[in-house]
Amino acid sequence: MSKPYSESCDQNKAPILALIGPLFRDAASVLEVGSGTGQHAVHFAAALPHLTWQTSDVPANLPGIRLWLAGAGLPNLPEPIVLDVLGDWPSGPFDGVFSANTAHIMGEAEVAAMFLGIGRVLAPGGRFALYGPFRMAGHHTSESNNRFDAWLRARDPRMGVRDLDDLRSWAEAGGLRLVEDVPMPVNNRTLIWERVASS
Ligand SMILES: C[S@@+](CC[C@H](N)C(=O)[O-])C[C@H]1O[C@@H](n2cnc3c(N)ncnc32)[C@H](O)[C@@H]1O
Repeated sequence: MSKPYSESCDQNKAPILALIGPLFRDAASVLEVGSGTGQHAVHFAAALPHLTWQTSDVPANLPGIRLWLAGAGLPNLPEPIVLDVLGDWPSGPFDGVFSANTAHIMGEAEVAAMFLGIGRVLAPGGRFALYGPFRMAGHHTSESNNRFDAWLRARDPRMGVRDLDDLRSWAEAGGLRLVEDVPMPVNNRTLIWERVASS
């Protein structure tokens, strides 16, 4: 098998790193949900050697992630773990969580489960950075996102660009609150959530 490759990862890794570098400056451990190819993990772990970057995904993607990790040979990239958001979660706690382009691929129940799971494994005060296209108050932020959403839903009705209001309510159930909404290139955003300390 050859290494899987995602062109969008190559294009968005630099602007994402510019944002999560400072965000995870004091973190020792970050969990990535839905690592995909593993390209993001290699780029971020190389630039952030002070932390351990834990990749994860559904079983089918682990062999590809392993190839990227083996090629990088970085000490802060442990073996990828199986993590289906509807299944068992690692025990944690992690100081940070990252996920890119997952919320529009997962069904709504899975996105809600992702927030619940992250609420359990993220340390109080820790940040979850969620990158991707999002709708704001029922409106797409661009015509291209509108077309992308229609294309996704035609492919699989469970998929679709998620609305920030829905994300907020799923996040609240997981004990997370939105602290920053950062516009990114090509009509994407990074939503930064904080694990609220339990009272
Ligand atoms: C479009 S890919 C994005 C991959 C990578 N994060 C990136 O930015 O290139 C969507 C990812 O979500 C993952 N995913 C879909 N359903 C999932 C689930 N139930 N639990 C965990 N990951 C899931 C897929 O396996 C895939 O890796």
